[in-house]
Amino acid sequence: MAIDGGIKAIPGALPTFRDASGRSLGAEELTQLKDVIESGSLSFLSGKKTGEFERQFAALYGVEQAVSVSSGTAALHTAVAYLNPEPGDEILVSPITDMGSVIPILAQLAVPVFVDIDPQTQNMDPVKLEAAITPRTKAILVTHIYGNPADMDAIMAIADRHGLFVIEDCAQAHLATYKGRLCGTIGHVGCFSFQQSKHMTTGDGGMVIANDDNRFGRELRQCSDKGWPRKAGGRDHLFLALNYHMTELQAAVGIAQLAKLRGMVDARRQSAFKLTAALEGSGVTPTRILPETTGVFFFYTFRISQESIKVSTADFVKALVAEGIDCFLGYPGKIPLYRYAVVKDARTFGTSGFPYTLPGVENGARFQNPVCPEAEQACLETVCIWWNECFTDTHVEQIAQAIRKVLAAYAA
Ligand SMILES: Cc1ncc(COP(=O)(O)O)c(C=O)c1O
Repeated sequence: MAIDGGIKAIPGALPTFRDASGRSLGAEELTQLKDVIESGSLSFLSGKKTGEFERQFAALYGVEQAVSVSSGTAALHTAVAYLNPEPGDEILVSPITDMGSVIPILAQLAVPVFVDIDPQTQNMDPVKLEAAITPRTKAILVTHIYGNPADMDAIMAIADRHGLFVIEDCAQAHLATYKGRLCGTIGHVGCFSFQQSKHMTTGDGGMVIANDDNRFGRELRQCSDKGWPRKAGGRDHLFLALNYHMTELQAAVGIAQLAKLRGMVDARRQSAFKLTAALEGSGVTPTRILPETTGVFFFYTFRISQESIKVSTADFVKALVAEGIDCFLGYPGKIPLYRYAVVKDARTFGTSGFPYTLPGVENGARFQNPVCPEAEQACLETVCIWWNECFTDTHVEQIAQAIRKVLAAYAA
């Protein structure tokens, strides 16, 4: 094996989202950017690209409005601010997602309540979700993890039964579908990220989509625009909200990327299916994608039964990396989100410990240390390969060969 000084299964570098090798960025983006620079307007206030990008995104998703923002975290914060929870209200969220799903809840002084995952799909388990609901629960923030659609029928039924608002976190799930419907259009609000590694990129950036507006007495767009009711003309600030504007430069790249999105997503899917076929019978178990859904493979993830290899999955991953696969163990890392300092130690607002110590939040520390055994296990056992739209059949064959080589060398 390469880790022992042998020859790498993958001789060259694989395409990566980190540079031009694995990003479909080119003439189309440059043309759009040139327009912006020549116009002299880098802000949505005077430019045309942000509005155009929003209209195109809304049309693609078949929704009434799309609000462009500066990141996926900003998109999710805009959605939580739109809901306008009371301080100490609870929002259900998965411990297996990016911290960008949790920060907006804390920033709005609501309490993230972590719900354990289904070990097969790694999305929130609907049974545990319903069991976690209390009179203070206001919303479900559901991430379609790795691009695998969550069980939206079950989640929406629970939300309806309990009158909860549903925010779909589609940061990893562009064009994913659940029973023929696009993820992001099933809940009340859908949030997207265009960060460098995502299915389409503007470097950083995000989008919030919805059909619903002013449900809680504030317009969605105002929630990322300082509470400013610009349509009314003049200056006013109706409530506390941040400035999360996307720039014209990001929107210009976004327009060009959006035109390529279908192709980029399809490419990821086709190559992922080829890897699954190539690994058939090898002993690895890819993360389950629910029937009647379209998974869009942000990562390609799988587990290996501990009985089949004589090393830990951590050592297995080290060997894969040495063979040339861009992969890592456990998402978001080796521990679920609630074990990071911001949650565990409530490093939030000064030394207050808010929201966990707010009046009316009973025994707040229990929210900082939830019991999510499936999430814990997933972090220790899930192999996450950075998947890429530029992988060719040869790349996929090389990846499969590398995995089979390491499996054989470490077979129990
Ligand atoms: C599932 C998920 N949610 C939220 C985010 C936050 O997005 P951003 O990094 O654009 O703020 C990300 C991005 O990493 C993500 O993968």
